Amino acid sequence: MTAATIDGKVFAEGLRERVAAAVPDFQAATGRAPGLAVVLVGEDPASAVYVRSKGKATLAAGMESFEHRLDATTGQDDLLALIGRLNADEAVDGILVQLPLPPQIDEKAVLAAIDPDKDVDGFHVVNAGRLAVGEEGLVPCTPLGCLMLLKDRLGELSGLEAVVIGRSNIVGKPMAQLLLRESCTVTIAHSRTRDLPGVVRRADIVVAAVGRPEMVTGDWLKPGATVIDVGINRIAAGEGKTRLVGDVDFASAAAVAGAITPVPGGVGPMTIAVLLRNTVVAAFARAGLTAPAGL
Ligand code: GUN
Repeated sequence: MTAATIDGKVFAEGLRERVAAAVPDFQAATGRAPGLAVVLVGEDPASAVYVRSKGKATLAAGMESFEHRLDATTGQDDLLALIGRLNADEAVDGILVQLPLPPQIDEKAVLAAIDPDKDVDGFHVVNAGRLAVGEEGLVPCTPLGCLMLLKDRLGELSGLEAVVIGRSNIVGKPMAQLLLRESCTVTIAHSRTRDLPGVVRRADIVVAAVGRPEMVTGDWLKPGATVIDVGINRIAAGEGKTRLVGDVDFASAAAVAGAITPVPGGVGPMTIAVLLRNTVVAAFARAGLTAPAGL
């Protein structure tokens, strides 16, 4: 192994401390703490775990957490009515509706109903548009976390070749926009890309977000490349056990890359830290205040 390991856990802890340090400033100026509302529809066990950790992290940062757990049979109108109340609630700065939603609910309509200035997931088309045209807005947590790790590792990104593998609205597309904003030369590769290894081999920066266990191997990489692995895949590990792996084959990639995020402990811990960051940034912006630097 030659690559440096990019420790997302340590970076995320630092970010959470900076977020927590901004809370008393906001409180002094407004008389209240920033508030995050998280909405969970149904009892999907993985979603329930995420929602619980988001609530705990929100409280640990000194912010207000509002949890709304709705029955799996909740109708579209009831969910939209709740979002309307959260939009109007002055104590709520951020609204996150945990995905996926049950089949009777139209996800697009729900995301479109969230006030874009409270859209801490950055999934609203208005925020996607703001990112695309270079206006201030809320940016999806996972790609913003990846960008923070890249800038921390590499400093200036201008002029670097970046290949994003995956074109989802949640990771791939916003990641590409963020890298473009940093003046990288950006390629978005996907399942129909011809000669994917050849495309990836050009990259100084590789962001893998495809959901295919250990797909990217060391022989696909340019020596010294910086590799960000967004994948979280559970695979069989023999004797009835399982283990978590990324979209990158860590062992072979680490022999070629300059730096790489591990799974777990790379991008994963960043998502909630950036969610807290987005909530504080949304709170300052809504109050007409400037958020402290370093967020
Ligand atoms: N489900 C899995 N990841 C996410 C996320 O980042 N945001 C929301 N709202 N739901 C998710």
